[in-house]
Parts: sequence; structure tokens; C-alpha cells
Amino acid sequence: MYNQSWLIFGGPYGNLQATQALLSEARALAIPAERMLCTGDLVAYCGDPVATIDIIREERIRVVMGNCDEQLAAGADDCGCGFDPESTCSRLSAEWYAYANSVVRPDQRAWLATLPKRIDLEIGERSLAAIHGSTRVINEFIFAGTPVSAKQESLDALGCDGVIGGHCGLPFSEKVEGRLWHNPGVIGMPANDGTARVWFSLITPTEAGLCIEHRALGYDYEAAQAAMRRAGLPDCYREALATGLWPSLDVLPQRERGLTGIPISETRFSWEKRPSPLLGAAA
Ligand SMILES: [Fe+2]
Repeated sequence: MYNQSWLIFGGPYGNLQATQALLSEARALAIPAERMLCTGDLVAYCGDPVATIDIIREERIRVVMGNCDEQLAAGADDCGCGFDPESTCSRLSAEWYAYANSVVRPDQRAWLATLPKRIDLEIGERSLAAIHGSTRVINEFIFAGTPVSAKQESLDALGCDGVIGGHCGLPFSEKVEGRLWHNPGVIGMPANDGTARVWFSLITPTEAGLCIEHRALGYDYEAAQAAMRRAGLPDCYREALATGLWPSLDVLPQRERGLTGIPISETRFSWEKRPSPLLGAAA
């Protein structure tokens, strides 16, 4: 059933247990690494940055460079997430980034530096460009609630039928005047929906066009929490792995703030061959 499908995921964030669970899921679906793609940020909040980079690299999964990958490759002082300097996210990021920056190996930094900022896929005669944030900046937050004009700008600049985006951490699919903006969500941190589940997607070519499934993934989050405790990382994100609630809503548009704590449903999104009106968003 999934012999032509792509498995798309974002933000492993140093969450080794979630990454291992995703790879198990890929094996169960018989989707090989050649048909998997990661939208970047291999390392962020969680406790196993080194092992997480290694496992993705060993599997030879294609990865778009995220801002965290870019900053670690450069040995920069901060994560480059684009948080407001006065925000909770910014304060917390200083701690998790410093930890990651202290343990990632030189050979891993060199490999992160080779990651492309754009990966083009052709699925079911549709051209899809995978990027991390937007074409303007690597760390632009593009949510479902972000104005359509921001999505149009990147779609126009990329000259493709659809974008596979990352960075924002929440899953959604949206038609933009017949084109597509798709974000699979992330596997390293829950989606602020009050559950411990994390998210990925399956893109399958069909006679009608493309079928996009937003899938939830359960995993051993208690083991991921233990790794964060051992690493001495801040309590907030460790607790978020269990509660499914982000420590801060600073980066969220009004729409997404209003959805805090409401469990997301797995959805199936159809992108037909001919342009049609907006069907709706998944998240
Ligand atoms: Fe990012």
C-alpha cells in the first residue's frame, strides 16, 4: 500500500527514542530510507544529540538543513531559532543549545555543514521543494495560521507545485491557490495538543493526485525524559514530552494559541491534480 509513498518528518531535536520509533514505523510500513525526508533541526531540546545525528546519518536519510544544524555546523553561540530575545524560548534555548554545542563531534559538524537548504522531490508528477523555514530566512515560522501571502512568496520564489516546510513544529497541510504548503510536524517534541504524541506524514501518489496522511507516533517518552535529566537539561521541555504542552506560546499565532491542549486528529488530505479551493488544514 505504501510502496510509492514518502515518509516525511521534521525536528528530531536530539530525541533518540522518538527517532528510533519513527525508523521502526518506517520498517513496518516497508518504506526505505531512500523515500524518507527530514525537514531539519536534528538537534534541539532533547538529551541525545550525538546519537540522533549518527542514526539519521547512518540510515542515509535525506535532510534539509535546519537553523540548529546550521548553527552547530558553524560552532555558533546560539540556536538561531529566531526567538524574541526577551522570550522564555530564548532563555531556555541558551541552555539546550549550550549542551548540544558542547557534545556534538567535529565530524558531525562537518557533515551538518554539507546539508542542503533545499531538496527537490518529484512525487506523482508534482514538484515539491523541501525547505526549513521560508525562502526569505531559514528560521521563519510558517504555521497554518500564518497569512497566505507569506506562503505564496516562498512558493513563487521556489517555482514549484508545493512546499514541504519545517521549523514551526506543528503539522498542517494547506492549499494555496491550487499549490500546497505541507508541514509534517516534528518527532522530537509533541504538538502542544496536550498529548505526548509526535507527528510525521506519508505522501502517496494516487490517480487523483497526492494523498497526504498526517500520522501520530507514540514512543517511549519516559526514556527520552531520562536522557534529558542525565544531560542536565531544563525541566520545562522534559515535562513537555509527557504533558504535550509547550513551555511557552511565544512563537504561536493567535489561531494556534487557541488550539493549545486540544488533541490533534490524524487526517488525510487530498491534493487533486487540478487546482481547487482550500479544503482545510490538519492542525
Ligand atoms: Fe528550526
